[in-house]
Amino acid sequence: MGERIGFGVIGCGTAAWIGHLPWIWEHPGARLVVVCDADRNRAAAAQQRYRVPAVATDYREALSVPGVDAVAICTPPASHCEIATAAARRGKHVLLEKPMARNVAECDEIAAAARQHGIALMVGHEKRFHLACDRIRRLIAEGTLGRVFYLDVHWGASVKLAPERLIPEGYRESYAWRWTDPTVGGGILQDHLPHYVDLWRWWTGAEVETVSAEVLNVARDYLGQPEIGLWEDFGSVQMRFSDGAVGVFQTSTVGRGLSPILHQGSGLGEWSEFGSLYGTRGQLAFDFLPWDSPEHGRLMVWSLEGRGQPDRGWYQVELPEPRRCPGGPRSPATNETFMFRRQLDSFLQSLQTGSEPQPGAADGRATLAVVEAVSQSWRTGAKVRVAK
Ligand SMILES: NC(=O)c1ccc[n+]([C@@H]2O[C@H](COP(=O)([O-])OP(=O)(O)OC[C@H]3O[C@@H](n4cnc5c(N)ncnc54)[C@H](O)[C@@H]3O)[C@@H](O)[C@H]2O)c1
Repeated sequence: MGERIGFGVIGCGTAAWIGHLPWIWEHPGARLVVVCDADRNRAAAAQQRYRVPAVATDYREALSVPGVDAVAICTPPASHCEIATAAARRGKHVLLEKPMARNVAECDEIAAAARQHGIALMVGHEKRFHLACDRIRRLIAEGTLGRVFYLDVHWGASVKLAPERLIPEGYRESYAWRWTDPTVGGGILQDHLPHYVDLWRWWTGAEVETVSAEVLNVARDYLGQPEIGLWEDFGSVQMRFSDGAVGVFQTSTVGRGLSPILHQGSGLGEWSEFGSLYGTRGQLAFDFLPWDSPEHGRLMVWSLEGRGQPDRGWYQVELPEPRRCPGGPRSPATNETFMFRRQLDSFLQSLQTGSEPQPGAADGRATLAVVEAVSQSWRTGAKVRVAK
């Protein structure tokens, strides 16, 4: 490996533009060697914007370009297993977008290939690098909340919605696979739940043990748009954790989010992502902005710990100022405090020190085990135990 890690970015859609291309491009420890997308125009757009020496439309071609030490795989989940195992066989380190794959069997295949070929594999659960999520973890570890016994998340309207029809603006161009591709293997729960299963495991160290889920196909059944109704667009999951805590996770692409603390709702592209943690000594409420926002959102805490009588009550947790720098055209224009930049820092550090990337294959697998149990639950109507 050279002084700067040479990267190939495979799949140049939304996740690549927001979460990978600008950060690899500007990082002093990395350089973009090749960009690849099955869609020639998308590959060319990324190449032009970031002046990348090589471009490809086939990932095998991209893996053969000299100087590629690592790849960021940003294609839809149906191709993660095929591309990640091929990269491992070529000895390339892998930063793999979430969900790690479509199911546990594919996760096992990827993990085995990574082990066999001695490459480092990080799964892109970037919320671990979000400074507010990091602060929540520390607040729990410091005992500010006491024993956490309840977690909930409400995450809605995460895509741009055309105002007169509850469908994502531009879905045909960019998001079609989420609604219409039979090979994807899941809907909004497969897309969103892994983020919070990963966070909850990281925050509390507890595993999800049982799930009970309900889903709706709002676009198909209520709006009469069968062409985009292949996978669920609304989901609600109840969980019990190995430490005895319980949780609720609710998400959809057909809600109009208004966040309770930030009171933000912007018409098109509304986003709400908020929740709370209840503990025996305190309570925490969080409210996050869209994933491409440079802001950290807001954390409010009510705690019996470390607060004198007059200060008791809800208070806002201070978070570092987001730092800004000129990013890419569609990038969030922040620097070291932005979660995707911090994720890349951590991945590069693992490559330099030889330490195993966190979150790694076992973490990605754990989220898919929960997603599999969730699918079984809503299909059968039963409460399902998550397979180990
Ligand atoms: N970490 C996050 O917060 C986050 C956010 C959004 C998406 N994602 C994940 O990123 C991945 C991609 O999602 P997206 O929203 O960017 O989708 P997208 O449709 O915007 O982009 C995917 C791109 O991959 C290309 N592609 C598809 N198959 C390919 C192949 N075999 N070889 C080369 N290129 C191929 C498509 O042409 C497209 O340009 C998914 O796994 C998704 O879950 C993660």
